[in-house]
Order: sequence, then C-alpha cells, then structure tokens
Amino acid sequence: MAGRIPAAFIDDLLARTDIVELIRRRLPLRRVGKNYQTRCPFHEEKTPSFIVNPEKQFFHCFGCGAHGSAIGFLMDYEQRDFREAVEELAQIAGLEVPSTQPRGPDHRPLYELMARAARLFQEQLRQHSRAQAYLRERGVAESQIEFFGLGYAPPRWDFLLQRLGSDDQHRRRLIACGLVVEQGERCYDRFRNRLLFPIRDRRGRCLGFGGRLLGEGQPKYLNSPETPLFHKRRMLYGWYEAQRKGAKRLILVEGYLDVIALDQFGISGAVASLGTALSSQQLQALRTQAQEIIFCFDGDQAGRSAAKKALETALPQATGDPPLSFLFLPEGEDPDSLVRKEGKAAFEKRLEQALPLSDYFFQSLEEGLDLRILEGRAQLVQRAKPRIEQVPAGIFQDLLWERLRERTGIALDRLRDSRPQKSGPPSPPRPKRATPVRLLVALILQNPELARVAQSLGSDWRDLKQPGIDLLQELLDFAADRPNLTAGALLEHYRNHPHYPYLVRLADPQFLEHIPESGLAAELQEQFARLNQAAQTEKTREALRQSIALRNP
Ligand code: UTP
Ligand code: MN
Repeated sequence: MAGRIPAAFIDDLLARTDIVELIRRRLPLRRVGKNYQTRCPFHEEKTPSFIVNPEKQFFHCFGCGAHGSAIGFLMDYEQRDFREAVEELAQIAGLEVPSTQPRGPDHRPLYELMARAARLFQEQLRQHSRAQAYLRERGVAESQIEFFGLGYAPPRWDFLLQRLGSDDQHRRRLIACGLVVEQGERCYDRFRNRLLFPIRDRRGRCLGFGGRLLGEGQPKYLNSPETPLFHKRRMLYGWYEAQRKGAKRLILVEGYLDVIALDQFGISGAVASLGTALSSQQLQALRTQAQEIIFCFDGDQAGRSAAKKALETALPQATGDPPLSFLFLPEGEDPDSLVRKEGKAAFEKRLEQALPLSDYFFQSLEEGLDLRILEGRAQLVQRAKPRIEQVPAGIFQDLLWERLRERTGIALDRLRDSRPQKSGPPSPPRPKRATPVRLLVALILQNPELARVAQSLGSDWRDLKQPGIDLLQELLDFAADRPNLTAGALLEHYRNHPHYPYLVRLADPQFLEHIPESGLAAELQEQFARLNQAAQTEKTREALRQSIALRNP
C-alpha cells in the first residue's frame, strides 16, 4: 500500500528506526515519563506540547495536532516526499531501498518540464507587447514580473506542444502536468492567450499556473488542474515569495494580483489560496511559518461569507498563537485596488486594525441577536458553544468561554462541557464524534497489539452495513498477523489508502485520551459488544421483516 516500495520493506525499516533518535538529532528532547517532550517544530509555542512516544514510534503535538510516524516526521519537518523520507531513513538504518521492484513514480521529469514551460512563458511575455501593455495598465512593475516569474501563453493551440511535445513520451508528460489537454485523438495547449502566474512550492519549483485573460471574458482565470505535482488544497500562491522576503506576518488575500500588488507596495507576506476556500492544510502550513496571520476579505457579501468559512476552518487550530485576525475591506475594493488608491501607510493601518479572531467570532455569531433579551443570549450560547468546543483546550479557549460568560451572564460551569476540562497542554478537538466503529478503528490503529485480543470478541459485527466496518475488518486482519507492529508502522501501511486522511485523524491520541491505558482492552470489549449487539438487533429485525412480507404477500 505504501507507494511502490514494498510494504514489507517499510515495516522492516520502521522496525529498525528509532523515532526518538531521529527527532533527537533535530530537536532537544526531554524525557517525561514514558515519553519525550519538546517545543513543537510545526507551530510557534512557548511551552512544549510536542511528545514522542518510543513504544508507539509515534509523535504528536497537543498544540497543533500534528502527528505521525518517523516517515511522517521527516516528510513534515524536512519537506520530503514519501520516497525521499524512506530513502533517508534507509540510509541511516543501512538498508537499501529495494530497486528490483518497479520504482514509485519518479516525478523529476515533470518538475523539469514545468520549469521549462515556465521559462518559455516568461520569454513569450517579453516578446508580446500586448501582454506587457496589459500588465502596465494594471500597474504591475517590472520588478514584480521578474520576482513572481510572470509569463504569457501565446494565442496558439500548439505552442507548448511544438516546443516541448516532440515525441509521445513528452506529450504524455505535458498532459500529466496539466499543460496540454487531450480530447479524443486531439491534443491542445490548455493555456492560450493568457497571462500566467506560476504557482510555486516552498522550494520555488513551479507546480502549476493560474492564467488570466488579457481583458474581459470567461473564464477570467483558468488554473492548472490537479496533477501528480499540483494539489490546490495544499498550495498557496505567493508562499515561496513571502518566504524569500522573510515575511513573518502572512496576509491571506483572494487573488494573484492582490499578492503581487501588496508586495509591490512594500507589504510582503501576502499569499492567496487558489480560487477556493482556505483549506485546513493551507492554514496549518501558514501557522507553522507565521508569527501573525491576517485574513483579508472584500467588504461585499461574498467576502463576508468567505470570512465565515475561514472562521470555521480556523477554529480547530485557533490557539491564539500565532494570532489570527480578520480584515474587511470597503465594498467594491480588493487589496490590489485599495493599496494602489491609498498607498502603503493607509493599508498598513487597516492591517493593524484588523479584528482579532475572538472579536470577529462574537461579532459574527451575535449578528441579528438582541442580547438584552433572554432569547438572544440563549441563541448566542447555542451558536457559540459547539464552536468554542472545537477550539483546542487551553488558555485561548478559556478566554473564549470567559467572553461568552460576559456576553450572556451564564456561569462558566453551565456553559462548559460537564466533562472535566484537563489543565495542561492545549489539545485540539476530538477528531470526530466517537461512534463504536470509529473508537475501534482508533483503538486498533493506536494499539495494534489489541488486534489479537479482538479476534476473541465475536464476529457478528462483520455483517453490519455501517461506514467504516470494512476498514475495521481490514485493519484488524492486517494487524493480527503482525505481532510487533507499532502504531506508526501500521499507519504507514495506509498512506496511499483512500481512507488515509480519515485514519490520520483517528490516529490522534487525543481521540482516546479519555481512556486510561489500563482500560484499553475493556473499552475494546465494550465497543465490540455494542457492535455485535447491533448486528443481532439488525438480524432480528430482518427476520421480522421477512415474516411480515410472507404474511402480506
Ligand atoms: P477575483 O475575481 O477577485 O480576481 O478572483 P482578481 O484576483 O481580483 O483579479 P482581477 O483583479 O480581476 O484581475 C480572485 C481569485 O479567484 C480565483 C483566482 O485565483 C483569482 O485570483 N479565480 C477567479 C478563479 O480561479 N477563476 C475565476 O474565473 C475567477
Ligand atoms: Mn482584483
């Protein structure tokens, strides 16, 4: 399941890797009980909430929720892809990554092709005065054209095909990169007569493009499709450029040209998501880099609803650190138009006055409510409580509860969950509601040794038609055959599985934190009993249905 590298090799590699050693070489670790602790490298924090568990061969941050195996750590910490991380670990362990097996897809030719395309487009921009004139009209400075590597796709259906598609293999690669579209027998360039914004990863490699018409028309922007290199939800436009400027304050805006204009006016650190709402991965990435994040929205209806969405995305990561705030621009303006109109100082002033997340939180939830009357206050509690519960436990969450108390006059212990709040490191929300299936998947995933115990706990549940049952079976059967599997190694087996993101969430130790270590087996037993019971009930019901059907033909 793990790419083209044989799963058995990954097992072996992880069995010989010590995640504690691996991380100790990069971060100062302090032993605390069974675990090791340090400040999380994936988000800014003052007190350590990052732990490494040698038994499970797993790391986890209570602050930002990052977690994973040794491979996952290298991928996140050193921005490696899966194969690179495996190769590095193999080198440390003195193992050779098997090469007799077909290699995992080698993306190097695709990266190379994207780079060549980007250069060709840049060249074309220098040769087409109409494209240059458009940029001049928009006020984009020469320096920005250079710094952002802007390009132009000429109005031909076969420009790239001619230049880079000399043979079938090259044409295949152009298609794979999303630069050429294949329609039946015919192939043609995706980008024609458009200004191109190369979208770069953190190392500055161009992975995709956004393409704008040189005037009015539809669609105004055309973006690269998802490709093996380009994943919209993980990329941010301007990210590489912001890093190069050493920006510590990141400003999320909507458009490519907003990023470029702000930078041109000396406001660095602007980034844009790619025509979609901010994803939680994008926010997570921003949080690891920024000391401060400002979301910038248009003052219109679309901007307001985008802000609400961004708030919902941000809550599970809102720790107050780095601080997040919301800026609303006057109706009809975007950062590009506004900074040109008002200049740097005025725009900076707006940034300074951005609403802190906590203020925006209450402002948006109180919309349309009258807090002078009981009904209004009750409604506010109803809206705010489930949202505050999503905020990682910790000081910031405490302060939100406190504010809700001030706004409604309802005592804290009535507002907060009856379940006792732990003090100590802040914790992200439970990944999901704990159904028996989810609990069981999490139990096995985090404690693969329980798979053997599970074998004696009945099998009626296997007939249930519930989401997750198949996965649970698969997981159990897999783990039961491999007695020495650690949690980290088990998770790695599923890296390319369609349900990997789901499993990653359930691998979060917080999901099971309410169960003491000594109670794990009992919990397992109880949850299986529930499922078996449900299966029995289902069977009885089915029998009943059938007998009724027989009587009433
Ligand atoms: P906007 O329509 O606000 O455009 O879209 P803009 O960036 O201000 O561009 P100008 O000033 O009109 O030239 C914001 C972002 O939404 C995505 C693009 O990423 C764009 O930068 N978008 C917009 C699309 O992907 N497709 C579209 O058709 C329009
Ligand atoms: Mn604009």
